Amino acid sequence: MRATKGLPATLTILGLALAGMAGALIDREPANAAGQRDDFPAWAYLWAPDFPLPPADDLPRHVPDSSASFTIRQEQDLFFSPDWHPADHPPMPEVVAHGVPPGVRACGACHRAEGTGGPESASLAGLPAEYIVQQVADFKSGLRKFSVPEGTFKLMIETARAVSDDDVRAAANYFSALEPKPIIKVVESDAAPRTEIARFFFIVDPRGGSEPLGRRIVEVPADLEQFELRDSRSQFIAYVPKGSVARGEALVKGDGENGVTPCRACHAPDLKGGGPIPRIAGRSPSYVVRQLYDMKSGARAGAASAIMRPIAEKLSTDDMIAVASYLATLEP
Ligand code: HEC
Ligand code: HEC
Repeated sequence: MRATKGLPATLTILGLALAGMAGALIDREPANAAGQRDDFPAWAYLWAPDFPLPPADDLPRHVPDSSASFTIRQEQDLFFSPDWHPADHPPMPEVVAHGVPPGVRACGACHRAEGTGGPESASLAGLPAEYIVQQVADFKSGLRKFSVPEGTFKLMIETARAVSDDDVRAAANYFSALEPKPIIKVVESDAAPRTEIARFFFIVDPRGGSEPLGRRIVEVPADLEQFELRDSRSQFIAYVPKGSVARGEALVKGDGENGVTPCRACHAPDLKGGGPIPRIAGRSPSYVVRQLYDMKSGARAGAASAIMRPIAEKLSTDDMIAVASYLATLEP
């Protein structure tokens, strides 16, 4: 593994992993270790715990259009959700802003102050409150797991086990009331910028260059430092195989060749969800593929996920790539 030269000095989301998981990182195999099935979308489950981190410092950091400043040491604290744009959202409940030590990390530390999330976690803004509550319950009971043994989700599960019902409700009401932001730009291409796996997400290799995309989605932060500083306004670029968006649209609308039920039948005509059903429009395509794969593999097996399983089972990994690519082009 090469040195961190050329990376921004921040890399705080990496730091989060270190701060939170130092003990758990020893002697682990990466998610895409030998033994995974051929159709396994390893790029949606990135895990490279040996990626070297730059040291933290106490210099004030900034993001565009914010007068706030936070230090890297603050940014690396899992009991702290940096609030770069307080005027953009109602006040965060305590559990979102600071969590409840020692077991409950701040929801906003990973999901961002405005629930925008990233490819490595999940967007929560605008999801039905009932749905959020149920997912936390599924993480807690062990019904919602991952198709791989290691990843950042382990801290989500730990948090779900420790959090009180009142705090889950407060977090769910808060995230549910937020307006989701459009943060993903989809680019159809045969090639992606050359990337590295920085612990659990792709970053553009600072040396430049490109690499064949193949049958993958490569989702990268448009501005690595802003992403690392966990600004809810961070944007992402998703490189997807050529033709994915049109093929995905046909599958989502039920015009696809494999007879999948149209997604709008349950996720609403605009695919923004409703009742207990989550929004699928405008979400991270890496996240969507991970969910579809987890439902197909049975790792995600909550009572409501069982409704999705027959649909996910009809989708090949290429279909999932297409569906996720199309969904990511829609307004959230
Ligand atoms: C250490 C990081 C971390 C913290 C802290 C955290 N989460 Fe998560 N959370 C994750 C990750 C990673 C996932 C994505 C799992 C996946 O890909 O399936 C996730 C997924 C979720 C989901 C599923 C979203 C969906 O669309 O199905 C919900 C709901 C959720 N988290 C709620 C919370 C709440 C509420 C809190 C605070 C009490 C919280 N999380 C704290 C990392 C975190
Ligand atoms: C028969 C109803 C139904 C249909 C049709 C359906 N879904 Fe779902 N979907 C659900 C339910 C219910 C959930 C919530 C599962 C849970 O609570 O774990 C869900 C969850 C999801 C999720 C996880 C979202 C998250 O926040 O983690 C994705 C992704 C998804 N569906 C994609 C699709 C796609 C793509 C289609 C069309 C190909 C589709 N669904 C069609 C009922 C449906």
